[in-house]
Amino acid sequence: MNAGVADSNLKEFFLDQLQDIYWAEKKLVKTLPKLEDAATTQELRDAFSNHLEETRNHVARLEDVFGMIGEEVNATKCPAMAGIVDEGSDIIDETEEGSAQRDVGLIFAGQKAEHYEIATYGGLIQLAKTLGYNDAANLMYQTLTEEKKADELLTQIAERNVNYQASMEPHGV
Ligand SMILES: [Fe+2]
Ligand SMILES: [Fe+2]
Repeated sequence: MNAGVADSNLKEFFLDQLQDIYWAEKKLVKTLPKLEDAATTQELRDAFSNHLEETRNHVARLEDVFGMIGEEVNATKCPAMAGIVDEGSDIIDETEEGSAQRDVGLIFAGQKAEHYEIATYGGLIQLAKTLGYNDAANLMYQTLTEEKKADELLTQIAERNVNYQASMEPHGV
């Protein structure tokens, strides 16, 4: 495969996006324990806790990717993920502890985060292939698979009981 020129705009863009998702993953390592503590149902707590372990691994994989492409490990603030995390904090502030409604909100915040990750890794994998970074593409594909599973699990938790339970809670509780 033609790996293109080493200093192309595409390579620069790839690196920018890598630094963005690296910041986002590290932010999620700090945020997931807060979501776990705030969640009402054990099932949702477990989902956040399990994804925290996976997310630590996502950070480590990205550090490997920086090495594979011969670049220093660097994070650049990701305003999108910062905003999603702020929305999650608002949900915690605006919902009652122990309510199913809180879990509905936390699942929304969690799924927004997962979809941002899914979009970014999907794009990064395509660019990595174009740039000839096939090992990096394979590594990020493992992460992408875990992001999709985490997203599906949140859908299942919502549909199995949390949404219904929230519908039975009176307004103001
Ligand atoms: Fe992740
Ligand atoms: Fe994730």
